[in-house]
Amino acid sequence: MLDQGAPPQNRTATVPLSAAARLMRRKPVERLVAEGGQGEGGALRRSLGLWQLTMISIGATLGTGIFVVLGEAVPKAGPAVTLSFVIAGLTALFSALSYAELAGTIPVAGSSYSYAYATMGELIAWVCGWCLVLEYGVSVAAVAVGWGEYLNELLKGTIGVTIPAALSAPPGDGGVFNLPALIVVLLAMVFLMGGAKESARANTIMVCVKIAALVMFCAIGVQGFRSGNYSHFMPLGMSGVSAAGATLFFSYIGFDAASTAGEEAKNAQRDLPRAIMLSLVIVTALYVLVAAVAVGAKPWQRFNDSEAALAQIMRDVTGQSFWGTLLAFCAVIAIASVVLTVLYGQTRILFAMSRDGLVPKVFSRVHPRSGAPRANTVIVSLFCGVLAAAIPLGQLADATSIGTLFAFALVNVAVVVLRRTRPHMHRSFRVPLSPVLPAVGLLFCVWMMGSLSTVTWVVFGGWMAVGLVFYFVYGYRRSRLAAPSVPSEPTAPSAPSEK
Ligand code: ALA
Repeated sequence: MLDQGAPPQNRTATVPLSAAARLMRRKPVERLVAEGGQGEGGALRRSLGLWQLTMISIGATLGTGIFVVLGEAVPKAGPAVTLSFVIAGLTALFSALSYAELAGTIPVAGSSYSYAYATMGELIAWVCGWCLVLEYGVSVAAVAVGWGEYLNELLKGTIGVTIPAALSAPPGDGGVFNLPALIVVLLAMVFLMGGAKESARANTIMVCVKIAALVMFCAIGVQGFRSGNYSHFMPLGMSGVSAAGATLFFSYIGFDAASTAGEEAKNAQRDLPRAIMLSLVIVTALYVLVAAVAVGAKPWQRFNDSEAALAQIMRDVTGQSFWGTLLAFCAVIAIASVVLTVLYGQTRILFAMSRDGLVPKVFSRVHPRSGAPRANTVIVSLFCGVLAAAIPLGQLADATSIGTLFAFALVNVAVVVLRRTRPHMHRSFRVPLSPVLPAVGLLFCVWMMGSLSTVTWVVFGGWMAVGLVFYFVYGYRRSRLAAPSVPSEPTAPSAPSEK
């Protein structure tokens, strides 16, 4: 059913539009939802419940950020890195509220790309989708690099050898090719080819391992706690805290992954908002605890490298290599689950963009037996695998953060726009105090983006320029909204009902 507040332009898509109006064309919420699950030659399967959705979000979030990037952030903020985690967590929290409202209202695979399409038009949606490629596709690569570091730590602790730098680091980081990073992406690809349910099962086991590993780290690390390590809490001032917060924002990326599973969730409107909020609360609590223990157990000045920081602390505290090796083993599993779930998210976002005609059709082709977009999975995996093998982690992590922050900023705007354009639409979750909290979320995103380096901004600018060229050469003309024969207001039974 439609509400009385439906904008008139949604009802008139068959009228020829000017070039500017085409850039602003919006996809009606009902149509987004009615198309849900449908791909080329088949449909995605609805098999995921609240538990699996929460595990997908935790799976995509907890990984390289805490196991590796923490080691890069401590030298920037000192012991106040705990505060940096809180600031990054608040940035994520306000945006998570907006995600929760939109995921419950528009439960489709495209996540913020689809929310932007429904509210701010095609060009902004494209920009958002292109940012999501940074959030998901590029972060898979960054995460896979972190996996390789822990794999080496594990090999050193068990069989006493490590993969030589030439084969375990990219050019610029002292190597030629990062083979482990490529391998973990290909392993995730194999799971994803089996379908969402099978991947979710493997992910759930891996998430349990990583939570257990971090709890174990806290229990052991706290025994090496020295209050003197906190005597100078903020040695590099507030600017250091916010710079570390911007770097650590990477560790929160992924809490929105459940929102990419909207077309495979059994009860998407009810479960997606819950999964997003639940995963963020669990992850934030773990991060602050682990960071507090880590800087309590090791003076912040000695966090001078990024590799396997937590495993080294375990070894230093216990004086036994066994615990460090055990943590490295858990980290290898933990980070693999990030690769799996983030790769999953990327394939589903491209699935939605392809269905809308903005990227080639091959991305929305569904395999009839597995119900998974297999061709999409192979292409995305190869792209991410090669990126992971050839580019250093630090550069990838910051590029990922800026793209994600931009997408989050748009989601905070989208939630307010939809409240205004479709005020009577049924919402299973509502951001409290809107538009104040979305505005705060937006400001946090802008602040964090402002804390990132000039190089990262230049990389981001280049990325967006490439995206815009692709849009005007390809998507602008092929968009399904450009086809006059496509009806703009389907009234499918699955469309969200009005209040
Ligand atoms: N948040 C994810 C991680 O830290 C990307 O690995």
